[in-house]
Amino acid sequence: MAERRYTRVVTDLPGPKSAAVFARKAKVVAGPLETYAPFIIRRSEGAVIEDLDGNRFLDFSGGWGCLNVGQRSPRVVDALKEQLDDFLHTDFTAVPYEPFIELAEALTARVEAPWPVKVALFNSGAEAVENAVKIARAYTGRNAVLVFENAFHGRTLLTMTMTHKATPYKAGFGPFAPEVYRLPYPNLYRAGTTAEEIERALVSLVNPADVAVMVVEPIVGEGGFLVPPDWFLPAMRDLADAHGFVLAFDEIQTGIGRTGKFFAYEHFDVLPDLICVAKSLASGLPLSGVVGKAEIMDAPRPSGIGGTYSGNPLACRAAIEVLKTLDAEDLLPRAARVGDLIRSHFERIAADYDCIGDVRGLGAMVGMELVTDRVTKVPNKELTARVTSTALRSGAIFPTAGLFGNVIRVLAPLVMTDEQVEEGMSILEESFAAHC
Ligand SMILES: Cc1ncc(COP(=O)(O)O)c(C=O)c1O
Repeated sequence: MAERRYTRVVTDLPGPKSAAVFARKAKVVAGPLETYAPFIIRRSEGAVIEDLDGNRFLDFSGGWGCLNVGQRSPRVVDALKEQLDDFLHTDFTAVPYEPFIELAEALTARVEAPWPVKVALFNSGAEAVENAVKIARAYTGRNAVLVFENAFHGRTLLTMTMTHKATPYKAGFGPFAPEVYRLPYPNLYRAGTTAEEIERALVSLVNPADVAVMVVEPIVGEGGFLVPPDWFLPAMRDLADAHGFVLAFDEIQTGIGRTGKFFAYEHFDVLPDLICVAKSLASGLPLSGVVGKAEIMDAPRPSGIGGTYSGNPLACRAAIEVLKTLDAEDLLPRAARVGDLIRSHFERIAADYDCIGDVRGLGAMVGMELVTDRVTKVPNKELTARVTSTALRSGAIFPTAGLFGNVIRVLAPLVMTDEQVEEGMSILEESFAAHC
């Protein structure tokens, strides 16, 4: 076993203090809110989490992709302390405040477009996607929404309808929202598709003149870390232009520097009309937004979009500092470096283990797909669960993804050091050695 500097698991998991809290949880917290980690966090810094029993873990999940600048990034913490002394809440549409506007200025500056850009802020990722659809419907006067296979857009009525995976996200929760149509996705590892096939599916499912918006993740996140071929996003832009609907990118998981560019779409020759952001935007505080073409953003009538807590001042202050930190700490090149390092380890591990069918990703959004064998490519969810569970119990938290739960994915804070990456990779490799 390689020497461990950052991780330390000295009790069974959960340890006695965590176990006592889990016993309380079982009595009062609704059952569906099951937890991934078998421990309760006490504190965290950067990419390291310590639990109530003194165990330490390297966090490759980043709170499911919310901690690109790291846990408790100093600029964020300082700004939050300052804001605590000023005011906590007004509702921006009741009594406006400057941080909302400063953040909108900073976000619009990140979109290189030949047209003016505006921003609306909300709380969660699902809310941003819902509002992108509302804005597009108001702009086009049309109803239909196009989404893709493997998509994840959230858990509200409209966004769970837009999400592909039935269990656990949809089963038992119908009836679903109307006017949502799912198109084939060009999965490079499995069934491919072409732009022509996507257009044929579109026109056979719905009258294109009724389509308000196409919502697409530039890289599929929860659905399995699928990177599209270069033609895909530009071809969807062409379809949107040809049929007069809005093109919205869901950058909730891919954005804020995760892939080495501020927005993942910047890797491709394409410009969307609307962009949904959330997760790493405010470093763990609840904040999301729709950023896009001013003409479209202005379409809903006054008060048609918004919400009591939308663009909460604390969350805006955090987000302003997140954007500054990305530049000040060179975290976009860092994302590329962390991603390269992880990817080269994944590829090396894949060379030894046949159960790894594919390694893929962009920047620090890297995943590997586990299969029963490389010929049949049958998804191996059970092995994925065993490998990640052993890694977790040895000190490294790796989330999973995919329609069939057979993808190990990395959403680590971009401030994770090379040494920490190495330690996490050796834990993962030992887990493969134990199970394959
Ligand atoms: C691409 C994408 N869209 C939307 C969401 C929903 O975000 P939230 O959980 O904040 O509602 C997520 C969350 O994982 C996501 O990854």
